[in-house]
Amino acid sequence: MNVLAEHRVRSTSTECPQLWLSILKKALLALFAVHSVTAKNPRDNFCRRFAHQTTVIDDKLYIDGGWVNFDGFAQDHLNSSNTWLAYHDLNKTVNRGGELWPDLNISLNKNDSIPTVHGGVLWGDDVNKRFYLYGGEWNLGYSQEPYHILSYDILYDKWDDFGTPNLKPPPNIASYGAGVGVSQTGMGYYYGGWISNASMSGWTQPRKMSSSFYTYAYDTNTFTQAAVPDKSPRAEGAMVWIPVGDYLGIIVYMGGMVMPYGNDTVAPQPLDEIFVFDAAGNSWSKQKATGQIPQNRRQFCIDVAWAPDKSSFNIYLWGGLSMPPPVVNTTSFADVYILTLPSFTWVKVYPDHHGNATLPPEYGHYSSSCNMIKSMSQFYVIGGTYSDTDACDLAYIPWAQHNLWTGTLNNAGDNDTYWALYNPNVTSNVVPIDVYSVVGGNKEGGATLKSPKDGFDVGNRPLMDQLGKRPSFPQRTPTREITVPTPTPSKTDTPQDPSDPALSTGAIVGIAIGSVVGLTLVAFVCFSIRRKIVRRREARRQSQVTQVSYSGYSGYSGSTAGAMSTILSRHASMGRWTMRSGPESPPPPCELPTQPDRDMAVISELPQDRMYHGEREYEGMDTKEDAVHPDGVPSP
Ligand SMILES: *[C@@H]1O[C@H](CO)[C@@H](O)[C@H](O)[C@H]1NC(C)=O
Ligand SMILES: *[C@@H]1O[C@H](CO)[C@@H](O)[C@H](O)[C@H]1NC(C)=O
Ligand SMILES: *[C@@H]1O[C@H](CO)[C@@H](O)[C@H](O)[C@H]1NC(C)=O
Ligand SMILES: *[C@@H]1O[C@H](CO)[C@@H](O)[C@H](O)[C@H]1NC(C)=O
Ligand SMILES: *[C@@H]1O[C@H](CO)[C@@H](O)[C@H](O)[C@H]1NC(C)=O
Ligand SMILES: *[C@@H]1O[C@H](CO)[C@@H](O)[C@H](O)[C@H]1NC(C)=O
Ligand SMILES: *[C@@H]1O[C@H](CO)[C@@H](O)[C@H](O)[C@H]1NC(C)=O
Ligand SMILES: *[C@@H]1O[C@H](CO)[C@@H](O)[C@H](O)[C@H]1NC(C)=O
Ligand SMILES: *[C@@H]1O[C@H](CO)[C@@H](O)[C@H](O)[C@H]1NC(C)=O
Ligand SMILES: *[C@@H]1O[C@H](CO)[C@@H](O)[C@H](O)[C@H]1NC(C)=O
Repeated sequence: MNVLAEHRVRSTSTECPQLWLSILKKALLALFAVHSVTAKNPRDNFCRRFAHQTTVIDDKLYIDGGWVNFDGFAQDHLNSSNTWLAYHDLNKTVNRGGELWPDLNISLNKNDSIPTVHGGVLWGDDVNKRFYLYGGEWNLGYSQEPYHILSYDILYDKWDDFGTPNLKPPPNIASYGAGVGVSQTGMGYYYGGWISNASMSGWTQPRKMSSSFYTYAYDTNTFTQAAVPDKSPRAEGAMVWIPVGDYLGIIVYMGGMVMPYGNDTVAPQPLDEIFVFDAAGNSWSKQKATGQIPQNRRQFCIDVAWAPDKSSFNIYLWGGLSMPPPVVNTTSFADVYILTLPSFTWVKVYPDHHGNATLPPEYGHYSSSCNMIKSMSQFYVIGGTYSDTDACDLAYIPWAQHNLWTGTLNNAGDNDTYWALYNPNVTSNVVPIDVYSVVGGNKEGGATLKSPKDGFDVGNRPLMDQLGKRPSFPQRTPTREITVPTPTPSKTDTPQDPSDPALSTGAIVGIAIGSVVGLTLVAFVCFSIRRKIVRRREARRQSQVTQVSYSGYSGYSGSTAGAMSTILSRHASMGRWTMRSGPESPPPPCELPTQPDRDMAVISELPQDRMYHGEREYEGMDTKEDAVHPDGVPSP
């Protein structure tokens, strides 16, 4: 195990007994550390995970590398190397604290010959049923071997080594760059990142930001160095692939940091400047985005869902570490924005829809993973490291799985709720109202806004043309036999009661501690928010405008007596809001009328976070409705 190597005590021969004693002591300590590390695993001792690599193939979400914090993190503050190759089975849910979440399997093959890295990428290939590991920093602290193209073979549960990249000069292997793998075209992409002796053996210079863009063709095992948007090095941004343009589609890149001046000064890469790569044409464009621009950030994550009719392509952005200037009131974020193309408009959807409210700092995290799952109906966030709290992930019971409905709850399109329990049975997606109220059409598509509000930037005629094309991608054929003999049905000698997840004593103790920390946090949050509500109500009372409550409806925590009236008034409010920003003359979202009750909207989302990590089961808390505050906040 890689992490153990770091703790290894070098034995030296000496005649001094005191030295021997101290070595023995160290060895014992190390053994102790080793023991406590080996005894824990990310299934039974989970607290958090971050900086891992993910990809989704055939309804399995693979998680490789990165770091885990085990139970006891609040005391030991240990980042443990995640040496496991794991997957969440999106078609097999298990009971986690009273809710059904995809199971976590940590038994896939990955031995010490495969490096454990953080800040890399998995390029998925759902045609050949494998993925490639590219980039990242060795968790050991330095890269022990030259980079090899390592690929995990899903069908045979084994790793293949496809040798070193066939590129002269060889690629500079980086970490925390932007990467994306595209099954439809059989291509992997990696742009920018940090080059260091941790990402690349033989690198003798100091850690350096990369300005290179590499592509990898799966079926021919071929690397190329592709065109770059400019000479500036960039890192900690993100990219997605979109099926428009020519036969290879386009890549959209955004955010992170940039060295714009040719010296060592680092600046944020603002999110109103979007970079688009025409993959077949090997050329880049830059386009100004408008709307409610997310604050500068890095180590956030994105993925894309498009309207059923491909009239809009909606990139969901989650979290990240703030990247001043300007200085903002938070270290990291817990918000969700959507960049909708081809109009290049940002809309904020969480918290508080178009409002400026943010969640308290304790919620902010970065270095999570984001993946569209289940026909893009759900946007799946896993883990992340919290910058302002030692508490475990709010959803540590379901192993830090967080689920956001891309078209709002149950594909309604206009439900209030985005964050909600995962549903494995959904086979289609829709556009959320926050998008179609801006670009026109409805939840099935039909966007009428087909270019940026102020037109495409000068020189972007080719980009406009690309965004207008809807190519059909030739079906890739597998390069190997992908039907394997049906595996013998799994043994069921110890059938597990799904309502009774096996938890070790350690886990239960951890959960108990975590719950107390979490509960305190929630109590604090609820307290501050309620104080705000009281103030706001006071203000409302004095206002001549009769405002309706925007929320009060609390998702799965059950409706209360007052809920019906709040739902109705919410509709009234929503209707007015939709009419004012109707498809005929869509103003950018930043100019949308302020929602009546910003703080209330925050609350409406809070109970879900609270509910979906299912702590209540372990707190001995009263789960009856009378434990729910009239505003939908569970009473702590
Ligand atoms: C663990 O990782 C986090 C995130 O990278 C970092 O801020 C922290 O310093 C690390 N802690 C230790 C003890 O190395
Ligand atoms: C984990 O997945 C592997 C491969 O799919 C399977 O063979 C194994 O039985 C699974 N283990 C558990 C504990 O579910
Ligand atoms: C480790 O995995 C590699 C790649 O799958 C394999 O070639 C090697 O035999 C394995 N080593 C051990 C000790 O299992
Ligand atoms: C890696 O680089 C760092 C910083 O440049 C340096 O301090 C360290 O000694 C290097 N490690 C190895 C193994 O070369
Ligand atoms: C780099 O160049 C910019 C613009 O010329 C300047 O503002 C900055 O101070 C320079 N930084 C360093 C470290 O020299
Ligand atoms: C920053 O956040 C804190 C805590 O949420 C709040 O008390 C303070 O007023 C905020 N400051 C600004 C400038 O928004
Ligand atoms: C949000 O902040 C921006 C910039 O600070 C400001 O222009 C806008 O009026 C604010 N919107 C709301 C709803 O408070
Ligand atoms: C949101 O969806 C839930 C569950 O389907 C439903 O009960 C609720 O009425 C919906 N809310 C709105 C505002 O449509
Ligand atoms: C999904 O479908 C299965 C089989 O029909 C059913 O048992 C399960 O309750 C469904 N899950 C949800 C969340 O609707
Ligand atoms: C997962 O379940 C869905 C139905 O809920 C099914 O359509 C899909 O094929 C399943 N995925 C796999 C890989 O079996």
